[in-house]
Amino acid sequence: LTIQAAKGGKKISPDLFGLFFEDINYSADGGLYAELVQNRSFEYNPTERREWNPYSFWEYITPGFSYGKISVETSSPIHPNNPHYMVLDIEHVGHEANTPGLSGVGIKNSGFSGMVVKAGDKYNFSMFARQLSKEPIELNISLQTPKGKVLAETKISTSTDSWNKYTASLTPTESNDTVSLVVLATTKGKLAMDVISLFPEKTFKNRPNGLRADLAQLLADMKPRFIRFPGGCLSHGDGLENMYRWKNTIGPIEQRKEQRNIWGYHQTTGLGYFEYFQFCEDIGAKPLPVLPAAVSCQNSGGTWRVGGTGQKAIPMDEMQDYIQEVLDLIEWANAPATSTWGAKRAAAGHPAPFNLQYVGIGNEDKITPEFEERFKIIFNAVKAKHPEITVVGTVGPSPDGEDFTKGWKLADDLKVPVVDEHYYTDPNWFISHQNRYDSYKRNATEVYLGEYASWGNKMRNAISEAAYMTALERNGDVVRMASYAPLLAKKDFTQWKTDMIFFDNTRINPTPNYYVQKMFSANQGDYYFDNVIQKDEKDANLAASCVQDSKTGDIILKMVNFGSESKPMKINLKGLGNVSSKAEQNVLTGDAEAENTLENPQVVVPIKSIVKIKKAFDYSAPAMSLTVIRIKTK
Ligand code: AHR
Repeated sequence: LTIQAAKGGKKISPDLFGLFFEDINYSADGGLYAELVQNRSFEYNPTERREWNPYSFWEYITPGFSYGKISVETSSPIHPNNPHYMVLDIEHVGHEANTPGLSGVGIKNSGFSGMVVKAGDKYNFSMFARQLSKEPIELNISLQTPKGKVLAETKISTSTDSWNKYTASLTPTESNDTVSLVVLATTKGKLAMDVISLFPEKTFKNRPNGLRADLAQLLADMKPRFIRFPGGCLSHGDGLENMYRWKNTIGPIEQRKEQRNIWGYHQTTGLGYFEYFQFCEDIGAKPLPVLPAAVSCQNSGGTWRVGGTGQKAIPMDEMQDYIQEVLDLIEWANAPATSTWGAKRAAAGHPAPFNLQYVGIGNEDKITPEFEERFKIIFNAVKAKHPEITVVGTVGPSPDGEDFTKGWKLADDLKVPVVDEHYYTDPNWFISHQNRYDSYKRNATEVYLGEYASWGNKMRNAISEAAYMTALERNGDVVRMASYAPLLAKKDFTQWKTDMIFFDNTRINPTPNYYVQKMFSANQGDYYFDNVIQKDEKDANLAASCVQDSKTGDIILKMVNFGSESKPMKINLKGLGNVSSKAEQNVLTGDAEAENTLENPQVVVPIKSIVKIKKAFDYSAPAMSLTVIRIKTK
């Protein structure tokens, strides 16, 4: 752009602000993943925190003086990855006089603390069943309120003694937030059932096996340049038995492997690698899968964990297979549909490549000899076979710990293109460390600030992060990417206190931190100008940045005031060519202690207006505020 040449400045990363998604705080099952049934495949098992089992969240029901029994069995399952299923033995269906409603033997599921349905919307029911007795079994499928009022119902008749998928559509007559799904056999016999599922038809972009539309839209609105998934610590698990292995999370949902989650609950992997890549594509974000470096979280692997074997790392003699697993992901994502793994992507409905550019190896690992040995061979193998892929390494959990130093040394030695730094700390740290990256070596390993947040969701937290983000833009020639963490948190099911978006089954609460992230993320540039905004340089509470987006030509000003009084700033757009005389301005300001809640999510929201722009103008940055002004160039 001629403007840039005239004004000086520097190119910065076009992928700077993105999202960190981890299945923590019920972010996936019960959260972003729109499945309404909990424990749909009877694969729940105990965790350290919960006494779950394959029957959890299912209630056995026998309305109308009926009787029989249920059992969970494992012989001849649909797929070895999905070993448990429910058997319904219907011994007697009562037809006694004076029994209102249907008689039968069945099971009932109320989802994640009640299913939310809307009158007139369609809900897609599906289940796998296998007749264990000769005669077909008649099933009544319904949505019921806690008092037993039927809001929608349909009938299914089984037809075979092999596993078969049955589908039906339910349209409730009333809206209700506490609905249960009832599967009731109304004829005698024996039936095996598995993967009993109910999805709203209206998922994000109406994708089958899709995402909760309101939550996904909130993320899409941020226009993130990338999404990192599936964690966090979830990526490498707390032992080999629950390390996240991507191949277990693609293909038909009935063939995926469910497991205990490192955060003490359960993951169906219904939101798996295919869905993550699909969502990235749907919202124009680059996928950043983070694969384990074959070592579990912080070198853990305790036998005290449920199912824990004490094994911390993949044995060296199995590493060739593991390296192949990493290489296969790149083939699955990028190779033509005619390749072995590309064909699996095509079979899932995506013949075109996903254009994977980044692969993370390891998450916040302890930099032990076991880690180094494994990371090195994975990294070298990816580099040799796929020089087009940018590998993102890791440097431990703290900005100044021992792992950080060791991790950076390893990255320097191996010339790892990018490494992932993490820090959660006090808002004042963010204010006083705005120069952190000014002194980082250029033309060397770049930084992915993969997890950061100040401890809290009040305005002062959000604005301290905003100040820091202007410094990330200023250092966008060495900081390639950054993502706030964690992203989502379900009320009453959180393991991490400070999060970007809180939600329950019906409501969403974007925090002030969300709005800061959104204002930066939706207003990114790829060129940085350092001499456009003048402010009092001695006042650490003030921060500002100016970037240009080469696609639109727009100039974007960001001004931050972490102080308790409004402060003047001077903007000089001379040398930036012809700019429009009007611009869109968004201001987020409020009391330092202000925060949004589920009950009152609008305490602090950005206020949008159209303002007049001159070549040079003064701006008074309100106390505790972030202002973004987006100016069109002509
Ligand atoms: O974001 C929550 C957790 O914080 C992540 O799982 C982990 O990487 C970090 O310790």
